[in-house]
This record gives sequence, C-alpha cells and structure tokens, in this order.
Amino acid sequence: MYFGVDYYPEQWVYPYAGTADKPEEAWQRDVELMVAAGVNVVRMGEFTWGLVEPEEGKYNFDWMRRAMDLMAKAGIQVVLGTPTAAPPVWLSRKHPEILPLDEQGLRKHEGTRRAYCMNSDVYWEHSKRIITAMAKALGNHPQLIAWQIDNGLGGHFTESSFNEETRRDWVAWLKAKYETVEKLNDLLGLRFWAQNVTAFDDVPMPMRAPTVHNPALVLDWMRFSSDTLVAYARMQADLLRELTPNIPVTHNLRALTREFDHFDLAEVLDFVSIDSNATIKTKSSELACEIDMLRSLKKSGIRTPGGGENGFWVIEQKAGNVDWQDVNSLVRPGVVRMFTYQLVSRGAAGVLYFRWRQPRIGSEKFYGAVLTHDGRAQNRVYQEIKEIGLELKRLAPVLHNTRVVAEAAILFSHDNDWNLRHVKQPNSHFRLRDHLQLYYSALHDRNIAVDFARPAEDLSKYKLVIAPSLQLLGGGEADLLKLYVQNGGTLVGTFNTGLVDEHHIVPDDGFPHSMTDLFGLEVQEFDALPPGEENHLALKSPFNPTQMHPARLWCDIIEAKGCQVIGTYSKDFYANRPAITMNQYGAGRAIYIGTMSHQAFYYDLVTWLRQLCGLAPLLKVPDTVEVSMRQNDQRKIYFLINHQNSPVRIPFFKPMHDFLTGRTFTGNYDLPPHGVLVLDEQT
Ligand code: GAL
Repeated sequence: MYFGVDYYPEQWVYPYAGTADKPEEAWQRDVELMVAAGVNVVRMGEFTWGLVEPEEGKYNFDWMRRAMDLMAKAGIQVVLGTPTAAPPVWLSRKHPEILPLDEQGLRKHEGTRRAYCMNSDVYWEHSKRIITAMAKALGNHPQLIAWQIDNGLGGHFTESSFNEETRRDWVAWLKAKYETVEKLNDLLGLRFWAQNVTAFDDVPMPMRAPTVHNPALVLDWMRFSSDTLVAYARMQADLLRELTPNIPVTHNLRALTREFDHFDLAEVLDFVSIDSNATIKTKSSELACEIDMLRSLKKSGIRTPGGGENGFWVIEQKAGNVDWQDVNSLVRPGVVRMFTYQLVSRGAAGVLYFRWRQPRIGSEKFYGAVLTHDGRAQNRVYQEIKEIGLELKRLAPVLHNTRVVAEAAILFSHDNDWNLRHVKQPNSHFRLRDHLQLYYSALHDRNIAVDFARPAEDLSKYKLVIAPSLQLLGGGEADLLKLYVQNGGTLVGTFNTGLVDEHHIVPDDGFPHSMTDLFGLEVQEFDALPPGEENHLALKSPFNPTQMHPARLWCDIIEAKGCQVIGTYSKDFYANRPAITMNQYGAGRAIYIGTMSHQAFYYDLVTWLRQLCGLAPLLKVPDTVEVSMRQNDQRKIYFLINHQNSPVRIPFFKPMHDFLTGRTFTGNYDLPPHGVLVLDEQT
C-alpha cells in the first residue's frame, strides 16, 4: 500500500522553500513530518519545465535530485511527472505555433498550463527532448518508482485544437479511415445540405459555423482528437519505457468530464491513476460510480509500483477544500478519512493527497492541503492524515494482492457519450449520466459490485450486463452482445438504444438497430416527455413492484415480436402497449426497459434481477451503509462505510472481526457518522 502526498517545494517560497542562506532547509522538516504521518511516496515535477530548463538546452535537475536524495534517507519513494503539461514561456515565445487555436481560430495564449496543440511537431520534439533529459538526469535514481505522463490531459477544454497541423493530421486520419473520397461522402453523410467534397483536403474541421455541423463529422472529429491525445501519451510512454524499462508509467484521469477515450488511454499506461475530487458530501453512490468507472478502465496487464497486478492509484486525493466552487467550505473532521477508505475499498493500491502544503504563490493559494501555508503541521488536517497513514500501514498486509471482483457490469462507450452530447437529441433533458446512475445506484445501494465495460469487451464473466441508452451502437458491438446472451448471459437494454450505427446512420430495418431479434420486439416510435410530465407503468409478474412507478422523459412505443411483456404504459394513446419486456435468446435473456423512471423503480428491478441471475449482495446491512469487498484466494475483506451524519445500526448475523479496532462484532453495532469498518468473517 502506497500512501503519500504531491510535493511541490517550488510553490512554498522562492528558491524552493527556505531562506536565502538556507534555501532548502524546509525540506528536512517536510520529510520528518511525512515519515511521522506514514508517508512512503511523493509525486513531484509535473509543472517544472520552466524551472528545470529555464533557457533552451540549459538544464537544472539538481534541486530535484537533492529532494529525491533526502527522500531516500527517509525511505520515501518518488513518482516523477513529466513536465509537459506546462510549456515554458520561452518555448511559446520562440514557437508560437505550438499554442492551440480554438474553434473560432483564435489563439489561446501562453502564460498558463496546457497551452499547447497536441498535433504540433515542434511540441512533440521538445516534449521528447525534455523527457529524455529528465529521464537521463533522474531516471536511475533509486527512489523513482513510477512516471506520470504530463498532467490532466484534456483539462481546461484542451482535448481539441484547430491549428493547421491539426488539419494536416485530420486529413491523414480521414484518408486512413475512408481510403476514397466517395466512401467518405457516403459514410459521413455529407450529401445532407450537399456538403459533399471532391478532395480529402476539403473536409472541414468543425469550427464555429452558423449552425451545427454534420453529426457524423463531429463524431469523427471527437474520435480523431481522442486518437491525437492518446498518440501524444503513447509517444511519452514509449520513450520512457525505452529509457527506463523497469519503471511503470501512469497518468491522472477523472471520470466523465474530459472528452477523450479513457479506455484507449488506459491501454497506453501500466496502471491508471485518478484525481479524486471528493471533498464535499456528494451522494456516496455518485462518488462510487466514478471510482468504479475509473477502476474499470484497465482490467488486465496492470503493472503498479512494487510489482502489483491489481487496482489503481489515487494520485490526487483532495486533502481539504477545493477552490473552484462558489463556496469552498472546509472538509469536516473524519470526512477525508471516509473518502480515503471509499477509494481503498474500491481497489486503490496507492493514495496520495493533493497537496503537501498550501501554495504561497500562484492561482491555487487557497486550495486545502495536508499542511497549511505555515508548514508547521499544527493543523487539524495534518493530524487526520497522520492517523489515516498509520491505520493504512496496519492494513497494508491484509490488503496485499486483493482486488475487487464484480459479477455485474454496466456498458459505457465514449463514442456514444460524445454522440449524445454533441448531436441534437429527441429530449435535451435526457442525460446519460443520470440514466447510468439510476442503474448504478440501485446495484450499489443493494451492495452488488459493478464494473463498467465497453460493449465490445469480453462480457462472459458477468451474470448481468446493463446497457443504458447505447444510442450509437456499432453492428459488431450488437453481434457481441447477442453472443453474450446466446451463451447464457442476462442483458438489460433500454430505450434510446441502437438509433444510429457507428457511422451515425439510422438503420432502415427497425430499432434497436441489429437487435430487434435479440429483444424480440421493434420500437416503432419514441415519445419525449417534458420534465414533470409522466405516464405510468402497469407491471406484472415476475416483476413485483413495491409501489406505482412512473414513466418519464422518454417512452418507446413497442411492438412485441415474440417477447414476454412484463409491463405496459397506462396512459395516453399508447396505453396498454409494452414498456418492459423479456425475451429468451439462446441460453440467456434480453430484458428491455423502454422508458426512464424514478430510483424506486430501479430498486424493484434489481430485486427481480438479483433473483433472476443469482446475484447475492456482498453483505446484508442497512441500505445507507456502503459495502464493498476486496478479495484474493485466501480471504475476503469487507469495507462498511457510513456516509451519513448520524450513526447507523448494523445487525451482525455472524461474528465479524474488524482490522481497525481489533474488535469482533456480534449482534448490533452503531457505526458512528462517517465511520468505517474493515472486516473479515470470524471463522
Ligand atoms: C487537477 C490538477 C491539479 C490541480 C487540481 C485543481 O486536475 O491535476 O494540478 O490544479 O486539478 O483542482
């Protein structure tokens, strides 16, 4: 178990933390305080280019080496960030062509981080140069255990740029995909508004125009921009593997905010790292959903520092308040600990807090940190982190080589997400995230572990696969879903599925495209309902509703073609028409949910699905307690987390042993607010 902080001495006073005669004096104190808090790793370097190369070709890595040497004395390991997230000012002054152009063709200027175009040859060359210099200077330092590529790729809306070099690469990408201009005109639907072209060079980039661009073109643009970003990351990863083959490579990702294919990026990495924004009390199932999504990006071929083959790292967990809300309240006592355990319980093999000390300079001065600006460690947060550090040290041997195992999966594809966000939709109040979350929360709140997966992944290990609103679904993907069901799987499909194929062409043989036989039905029309307007569902056995459930936002009007009808609408001109169906297909079943309801419906649905698929909850505890499990061949470790501000009574039906307190629980136990238990069964 790695436990640490993000360490930026350059942010604490120039030159680097101390006084003029003893410039680096504060580092010794930092290291002592870190050791006392159980810190065994720091990340540093990701924004240092202008410091380690203040003028072109003049390198200065000595201060970083001295910091690493000091860490060595205390047994603290180091993750180094390649510094490319923040180009030095001299580079953009010399080569303004590296600066990105926005969709209006306006330049985004130098002076902050992320001011570079990922298609720029000059930027690629300079990136390679600084990475090589850094790896040569520090790559054989015994403390180095991982590289982080760049930082927050795609952040600040920099996933795309519209430079001339971008156009060159866009044209090459289109040529490789379509081969001939005829095929391009056909498959991109360019005959709509007669925007067909006679040469690849004429295909526009989707820059600001009087109205929306052709959706197929926009979708390809998103794919191209994502491929560009992933290629840039791959260049860095390949170079680092050549220079320091034994050092794993990672990158820090966030869920659902940035527009590139996170699964593709994860393929380039040895292990995934995440930025966790948990600071204020958001719903636990929303936080858990994001963690599970990020954990699921890389399911095999994982290589973490120390030889681990499971899990992910949290390379930035907020240690205190953030600075980007209107009101940045302090994180209440015990809450950082609770969030840390939530991350650990869902597979984190390393947790590093952002950041060691609040910066005294720059734009993030009032961001919370482990230490306050004074660096003296007299503050509340330091004491809390110290306690967590000591606890995790005790837990580390128990958690070693354990992983999260899920029997249910929710499908997600970035292609589909981009399509839903960038194309005019039947109901603009529909949000994929909300729809996913309804299913996720129902499983989460009933203590069923969930993975996320792309539709084309091997799904055979899952008893249940839920596919919410895959409006864009490739024909190949549909075939794989059929195979999954044919072989005995249970698939839940929903409204807003298979309305377009991978080329953004609507099928002319019925919805859901390529899957009418799988679901044994055809969607003839779909009705969009404004927020607040509802139809109702009349449900029959085997679905046993505990209450009346509404249908809202979207109602598919379905013609059953062999499926069993489980629920119908009760109002409007489609009253008594099927809304929920089930179809036997090969050895499995395909369930179709033609509408969206409220959370209570999904709880009832999960009760039914649990019986249908033989899915057992991890542990029977009240719904308000979050349960997750890490396991290996020898043992199962349960985490119970109370996200509430009040105690929750847990009845223990069999004795369980808590690793944190050493106690064995039987009968009732009141888990305190924000409390955590780490248990195994007493045998
Ligand atoms: C992260 C970034 C950090 C910091 C933080 C602020 O994405 O990696 O450097 O800026 O956001 O929220």
